[in-house]
Amino acid sequence: MARPDLRLGVNIDHVATLRNARGGFYPDPCRAAHEAILAGADGITAHLREDRRHIRDQDVERLKRQILTPLNFEMAATDEMVAIASRIRPHAACIVPEKREERTTEGGLDVVSAFNSLAPVVERLHGEGIRVSLFIEPEPAMLDAARRLGAPVVELHTGAYAEATLSDDRDRVARELARLFHAASHGAGLGLEVHAGHGLTEENVGDVAAIPEIAELNIGHALISAAVFVGLGDAVRAMRAAMDRGRARLG
Ligand code: PXP
Repeated sequence: MARPDLRLGVNIDHVATLRNARGGFYPDPCRAAHEAILAGADGITAHLREDRRHIRDQDVERLKRQILTPLNFEMAATDEMVAIASRIRPHAACIVPEKREERTTEGGLDVVSAFNSLAPVVERLHGEGIRVSLFIEPEPAMLDAARRLGAPVVELHTGAYAEATLSDDRDRVARELARLFHAASHGAGLGLEVHAGHGLTEENVGDVAAIPEIAELNIGHALISAAVFVGLGDAVRAMRAAMDRGRARLG
C-alpha cells in the first residue's frame, strides 16, 4: 500500500482507561496498538500522565519492546517524565501541559511563558535522540517560540476547532479552521514539521486533513469510542478513509 503523505497516529490511552476501570489486563493497550497498525496506523501515541489514570509505566515499556512502528510518547515537562523518556527512548516525545484536575489536555503548552523551563527539557530529549514535539495553540507567537526552542515538530491543538464543529455556528467553525490554516502555514514557513490533534472525529477530520502543511494527525477518543461498536480495525480504516477524502481535495 502506498503511504499517504498525511500520517495517522492512533492514541490508545482510552483502551487503558477501560482496562483500569476493572483492574487486570483487559483490554490490552499493546494489542490495540497491533490492531491499529494492522489497520493502517502510521504511529502509536500514548500519554503517561502524572496520575497514571490510563497508560502505566509498564504499558510504555511493552509498547517500546513490541512495536516497530514509531511510538509517540506524550508527556509533561517534568523531571520524572524526562527520565522515563530518556530510559525508554521513544521515537518521539510530545510535550503537553498537564493539570491533575483536567479530564483531558485542555489547552496547548504556553511555550512563550514557559520558554526558560522548557529549553533544558527540549535539549535533553533532543540529546537522547528523541524527536521533540510541542503541543501548542495555533498561534504565531507560540510557533515562533517553538522554533526558538529548537523543537523540530509542533502539534497544533485542534480542540477549539473540534468544539466549534459541535455548534451550529458556521462562522465560528470557519474562524477556527482559518486559525489552524494560518498556523500550519506559519509553522511550515519556519521549517517546523506540523502535526495536529485533539477532538478530531470522522466527521470533522476532513477539513483539517485538507490543510496541506499538516503531516500527521493524532487521534484517540473518537477511534476508541467507534471501536466499541465496529472494532478498532474498522474504526481506524474509516478514519483513514475520512482523512484521505479530505486530503484528496488538495488534488
Ligand atoms: N494529541 C495530544 C497532544 C493529546 O494530548 C491528545 C489527547 O490525549 C490527542 C492528540 C488525542 O485527542 P483525542 O483523544 O481527543 O483524539
